[in-house]
Amino acid sequence: MKILVIGKGGREHALVWKLAQSPRAERVYCAPGNAGTAEDGVNVPIDPLDFDRLVAFVRKEKIDLTVVGPEEPLAHGIVDHFQKAGLRIFGPTRAAAQLEASKVFAKELMHHADVPTAEFRIFDHPEFARRYIETRDYPLVVKADGLAAGKGVLVCSTNEEALTAIERIMVREEFGPAAGRRVVVEKRLEGEELSILALVSGRTIVPLQPTQDHKAAFDGDKGPNTGGMGAYCPAPLGTPELLDAIDREILVPTVHAMKRRRQPFRGVLYAGIMVTNQGPRVLEFNCRFGDPEIQPLLMRLRTDLLDLIEAVVEERLDAFESKLEWDPRPAVCVVMASKGYPGPYEKGLPIKGLAEAAQLPDVKVFHAGTRREGDRILTDGGRVLGVTALGETLADAQRHAYEAVACIQFPGAFYRRDIAEKALRPITAPAAETSPIPLAQSE
Ligand code: AMP
Ligand code: GLY
Repeated sequence: MKILVIGKGGREHALVWKLAQSPRAERVYCAPGNAGTAEDGVNVPIDPLDFDRLVAFVRKEKIDLTVVGPEEPLAHGIVDHFQKAGLRIFGPTRAAAQLEASKVFAKELMHHADVPTAEFRIFDHPEFARRYIETRDYPLVVKADGLAAGKGVLVCSTNEEALTAIERIMVREEFGPAAGRRVVVEKRLEGEELSILALVSGRTIVPLQPTQDHKAAFDGDKGPNTGGMGAYCPAPLGTPELLDAIDREILVPTVHAMKRRRQPFRGVLYAGIMVTNQGPRVLEFNCRFGDPEIQPLLMRLRTDLLDLIEAVVEERLDAFESKLEWDPRPAVCVVMASKGYPGPYEKGLPIKGLAEAAQLPDVKVFHAGTRREGDRILTDGGRVLGVTALGETLADAQRHAYEAVACIQFPGAFYRRDIAEKALRPITAPAAETSPIPLAQSE
């Protein structure tokens, strides 16, 4: 069987790598891919938003199944486009992808379906938002409604910061005119974050194992939010009781509400959750696999991913309920990023040591922002690599991942040194014990 994966990040490399292991996978293509997907599959230089060219390629190569990685093509209707062309594709339709593409849509759905989330208000005019903010006596989070490459969420400590956030999103339109037309202003929640990714098809929901991401750029959760600087799986925070509550109070009512609205969800439903003293609360929904969360997840998944994805597409996922097989060993992924990320950064810098890291047992280096030039591999994005390792214990997995990181160098490489630390030392260590300087300048 021939498969096409759409996208070019660490998530897509993990998908290509895992799908290629299926005995039924004859060839796995990736559009446009990176240097890593070219090693485990075959790259095709087509833009993920060029639906017509993608359809033409799928027809010409007789590809049986397309798997969409990132949210942007989903929000633009790639699934509707492929389905109209009679082609099999994994992911939600444009209407269902609104769960991620519109924060207003997601909050309204949660409100009507009684899904626990932070208290919120929606505004389409900055003056009304300002007046509301001035009457609040607790910290707020201000969110641009539309997709903003993960940057449209401003977590504020004071009312002044929240007022500045309104200015940036609605008046200066820093995240684009469409994303900033409406805002969600919500209560800032305290607690620990957990990512729950579930496969959804029809009425069936098959949650994957709980993972924890590390969104802040620097050690100790300091610095600006990023797409994710590392993740581990399973996250012990996700106790069976908590996972049960998340299933009952969040996943089931959300999937049913989408069905009732005639926008049935099919694909990956990713719930970003804050575990508060009052229980789990939804921070956001995403409509695709989380990156980097999918990297440690797929290191551990033993079930054939191709079988699973086909079961979602063909609405026979119930066959996999409570049947997923996992490697019992935990996995840790450490993201190596370009100096400056999530702000501006340089590209085209040579990466060394990949072969040495690949020699280590139970390690896989997933490529995120890389490209090949002759026999050199160069940096080509903010997040460059997802260095992922298994271990007998979470501490072993963490140690193996950092041993592999130590093999790899590129100028300006930086990474967090505390990935998975929260699970290993749940009583938070004093901030002074973590390195205040996250930059690991190499070479
Ligand atoms: P989102 O894209 O909505 O997940 O927001 C990105 C990040 O902002 C989340 O992963 C949290 O770290 C933070 N965040 C979002 N909403 C809240 C909230 N209500 N309270 C505290 N932190 C939040
Ligand atoms: N790691 C967060 C995300 O994929 O949105």
